[in-house]
Amino acid sequence: MIHPDIEQVLYTEEQLRSRVREVGAQITADYAGRAPMLISVLRGSYIFMADLTRAIDLDVTVDFMAVSSYGAGTTSSGQVEIKKDLSDSIEGKDLIIVEDILDSGNTLYYLMDVLRARKPASIRICALMDKPERRTKPITADYVGFTIPDAFIVGYGLDYAEKYRNLPYVGVLKPGVYGE
Ligand code: PRP
Repeated sequence: MIHPDIEQVLYTEEQLRSRVREVGAQITADYAGRAPMLISVLRGSYIFMADLTRAIDLDVTVDFMAVSSYGAGTTSSGQVEIKKDLSDSIEGKDLIIVEDILDSGNTLYYLMDVLRARKPASIRICALMDKPERRTKPITADYVGFTIPDAFIVGYGLDYAEKYRNLPYVGVLKPGVYGE
């Protein structure tokens, strides 16, 4: 049963499962013999993180961080505030930042700076969804689940006004739901 606020399902539960398995297999191959630390950027990435870690056949560790953008988010000043920091040291670690969506790139542009200063061995970015046409900062993901057009999507962790994160699929929100 599709939620009444959803105009169209972009990726079904099955498509998400299958793609996440592929990305997990790619990471498993790329990091063979190593034990990467996966860093989930909350809140949107929590479901992707849970599925991705189970699709990786390595001795991974996990940690969590929460950030929020200052202001309306339409300007490119892109100041980001750390709401919850990591629990562990990342020095010397191979990091994989796990994001639900890469949009303007502001969040990761800032976060990469913060994390690099803590001297990890390496940092890569894994984004479930990538909207390259929205990018205003020079950020590229090393692993991308799906490259998508600029539509208002929710589900599988992604919200609108904190709703819809629990939908098992990714769907396009009906325009009437968020105004224009
Ligand atoms: C989303 C997403 C990224 C960020 C991407 O988070 O999870 O962190 O926006 O956008 P950017 O590339 O333009 O910086 P959001 O602020 O919606 O918070 P949430 O994860 O708690 O939903």
